[in-house]
Amino acid sequence: QVAILDFGSQYSHLIARRVRELHVYCELYSCLVKVEELAQHELTAIILSGGPNSVYDEGSPHVSPEVWKLIEERNIPVLGICYGMQELAHVFGGTVAPGLKHEYGKAMVKRVEGCDSQLLDGMPEEFQMWMSHGDKLTKTPEGFKPVGSTDNAEFVAIENLEKRMWGLQFHPEVTHSPKGRELLGNFIIKIAGAKPDWVMTDYAQEFIDDVRKTVGEGHVIGAVSGGVDSTVAAVLMTRAIGDRFHAILVDNGCLRKDEATKVLKRMREDCGVNLRCVDASDRFLDLLKGVTEPEKKRKIIGGTFIEVFQEEAIKIEADMGKKCGYLLQGTLYPDVIESISYKGPSATIKTHHNVGGLPANMNLKLIEPLRELFKDEVRELGMALGIDEASVWRHPFPGPGLAIRILGEVTRERVKILQEADDIVIQELLNSGHYRKIGQAFTVLLPVKSVGVMGDGRTYENVASVRCVETTDYMTADFYHLPYDVMGKMSSRVINEVRGINRLCYDISSKPPATIEWE
Ligand code: XMP
Repeated sequence: QVAILDFGSQYSHLIARRVRELHVYCELYSCLVKVEELAQHELTAIILSGGPNSVYDEGSPHVSPEVWKLIEERNIPVLGICYGMQELAHVFGGTVAPGLKHEYGKAMVKRVEGCDSQLLDGMPEEFQMWMSHGDKLTKTPEGFKPVGSTDNAEFVAIENLEKRMWGLQFHPEVTHSPKGRELLGNFIIKIAGAKPDWVMTDYAQEFIDDVRKTVGEGHVIGAVSGGVDSTVAAVLMTRAIGDRFHAILVDNGCLRKDEATKVLKRMREDCGVNLRCVDASDRFLDLLKGVTEPEKKRKIIGGTFIEVFQEEAIKIEADMGKKCGYLLQGTLYPDVIESISYKGPSATIKTHHNVGGLPANMNLKLIEPLRELFKDEVRELGMALGIDEASVWRHPFPGPGLAIRILGEVTRERVKILQEADDIVIQELLNSGHYRKIGQAFTVLLPVKSVGVMGDGRTYENVASVRCVETTDYMTADFYHLPYDVMGKMSSRVINEVRGINRLCYDISSKPPATIEWE
């Protein structure tokens, strides 16, 4: 395996992801990892990540001398990135000083003249890389020679062939470093000799083996919505422990048309998951009566979801006569970063509700098989597990469901109107082949009526809006340029087939400043 020692950079998981993309197995460890833990593994290479500290700061993190000894004894190739390179300087006698200018952003890296470093194989004389650092190397560590520089820093790539160590001031792992992937490949495959034979199914097998060990004869519960994350997590758990996994789908009365029935059928029949649907729609819709304020809706739905889930968990335990000690969650890596950054001073835009909100007093240990992965990797894993394409490529659907797409009061009648319209919109996107190109698509029911004419009569009905966005990370998004003929078909079908809507609009706002959902 390739071991990544994490010094706390926001990019550490991206390094792991790039290594996986090279089809090489890797694991992320704390930079303070004990030598005993590392020594158990066959280590093809070690990558030292970046980090927020300065190597000379008091209390800044350092790799233990025992780990350095292991590296030397086994002659393991090491690549230090940003802080990781400064750590090499710290240990092997270079000098690091605060740069005159902090460098954040794109920089052109030049090869040192006549340098034939294998690390830079395939790189042109000058290539763009992403910098994000304050400190810089002012003297190379002993035995290291420079192989790359920028106008602002003399030593941005260094190597020591004898020790098999390399250092980079820039970040090859980010997408703003177009040749970064190739450069990491040079280190991992060409220099370290890792075999590119790892595939996503290995990830699955490893999780299954681990979970069997951890859970033993125990039982696990989990909330499953039918979205790609919870589906993949549920399938993995089912393959690990079969019927000892109890999945619960809470119908909050604000699901899409026939959603509960479809998810139940698909999960049970196609995926073999032991899923039970709890119809709590009346309870939710009664609580939502008269509520129009978006945050209030979110709080009611989030809180009630927790209550229902807890009650069901207790029932399952009583039915089985056994304690359920574990809770499965389909948390992804971006959710982990978001929830961490949410602890910072940033303003709350919306209180996103998902199972992450379950209270600590539930006394359940969390199992999060997708915690290391990004959305597109989860989709790849889903395909590798043989989950059907329709499930794998489904657009995300928010926990509060249609309640935050019905502006104003949520009533049974308005849910029904929106379900019908939304179903037509999605059908037309599927029929026209646009669904897969869109990050998320849905319909919103507005608290506005407009005048229309149908046949010879006047109508005074609801207005709805279609929202389709292009996005990969859901943090920013552009409205999707849907061809007019597809819009035309949607509008004519929705207005003709859905009683209660006489006008359909298309949302042309981007995020920011709009958000994806309307509430
Ligand atoms: P916004 O509207 O904040 O949405 O731009 C970004 C993404 O998050 C989804 N979303 C939610 N997902 N619980 C969820 O699980 C929520 O409460 C929630 N609110 C928004 C939204 O659909 C989009 O994909």
